[in-house]
Amino acid sequence: MLFCPFACERFHSRITSLSMFPAHRYRRLRLNSAIRRMVRETSLSPDNFIYPLFVTAGKGIRKEISSMPGCYQESVDEAARNAKEVQSLGIPSVILFGVPQSKDELATGAYSENGIVQQAVKAIKDAAPELCVITDVCLCEYTNHGHCGLIDKGEVDNDKTLGLLSLAAVSHARAGADIVAPSDMMDGRVGAIRTALDKEGFSNTAIMSYAAKYASAFYGPFREAAECAPQFGDRRSYQMDPANRREALKEVSLDIAEGADIVMVKPALAYLDIISDVRNTFNLPVAAYNVSGEYSLVKAAAQLGWIDESKVMMEILTSIRRAGADLILSYFSKDAAKILG
Ligand code: PBG
Repeated sequence: MLFCPFACERFHSRITSLSMFPAHRYRRLRLNSAIRRMVRETSLSPDNFIYPLFVTAGKGIRKEISSMPGCYQESVDEAARNAKEVQSLGIPSVILFGVPQSKDELATGAYSENGIVQQAVKAIKDAAPELCVITDVCLCEYTNHGHCGLIDKGEVDNDKTLGLLSLAAVSHARAGADIVAPSDMMDGRVGAIRTALDKEGFSNTAIMSYAAKYASAFYGPFREAAECAPQFGDRRSYQMDPANRREALKEVSLDIAEGADIVMVKPALAYLDIISDVRNTFNLPVAAYNVSGEYSLVKAAAQLGWIDESKVMMEILTSIRRAGADLILSYFSKDAAKILG
């Protein structure tokens, strides 16, 4: 099923026979910036970026996340102002995460009409009408135990969770979200959400599914940002095992069959092989999430003076595009867009 251009022996020997020195000197095409631009295989543009925003209750609040310098928990008014800046930098999209005031067993805040994300969608649509507003659909920020689904007998109950995820997705669409992005990793959630959206008259609301989402330690800083660390156990019974590659294709094909419009691989950097596999196997747009831990590692090393932050950032983003991602969710989006101009 995988397409590999180098699997063909004939093609391979043709390449090596062309590589005879001194007739061929590859450095000719690296001599100056103009020629390097002409033969560059991978492009990076603000069009590729989706910028995450963390929205919290209150007014005039902008609280920096200590493990993610340059990222903030923001009240709705501040998030709307930030979204305007995102739009002015030429970035076409934001994804919203809610940090609600209170949490409960049933994750009520996730699907209440006046929940924090629902309010933010409306405010951002008013402030920056051109922006594509994506909402993260999950329960973990809203449950008092921090898991992504309902707990029954100490376990996350898959099928009981689907109804609440559908309610959340419909409430986001009703508030004006263009795309809903389920990140919970319950089986069958894309189909359940698609059915619910269509039934409620939101057949034009797209689904970007976190299709191949791994149980990763790279989410550490995000859990501080979104205040959603699980209070017991971990997420390994629903998120994927980092050791599994073929399984990612099963997950993605299931989400596509259930109606996903865009499929995501997450995290990005330690999973470039997965991005490449998904790109080469399916024809849908592929997104990759350059997650919080990937951002924090770069920020921390830069603060210590150990790396050149901008160069490492651009190299990482380029590598994610080179692996095959059309879209990159990244906390670096604004910084990179400023460099790209
Ligand atoms: C919610 C969710 C998580 C992230 C995005 N949505 C955390 C998790 O699954 O534990 C991680 C994003 C990041 O690390 O930047 N389920």
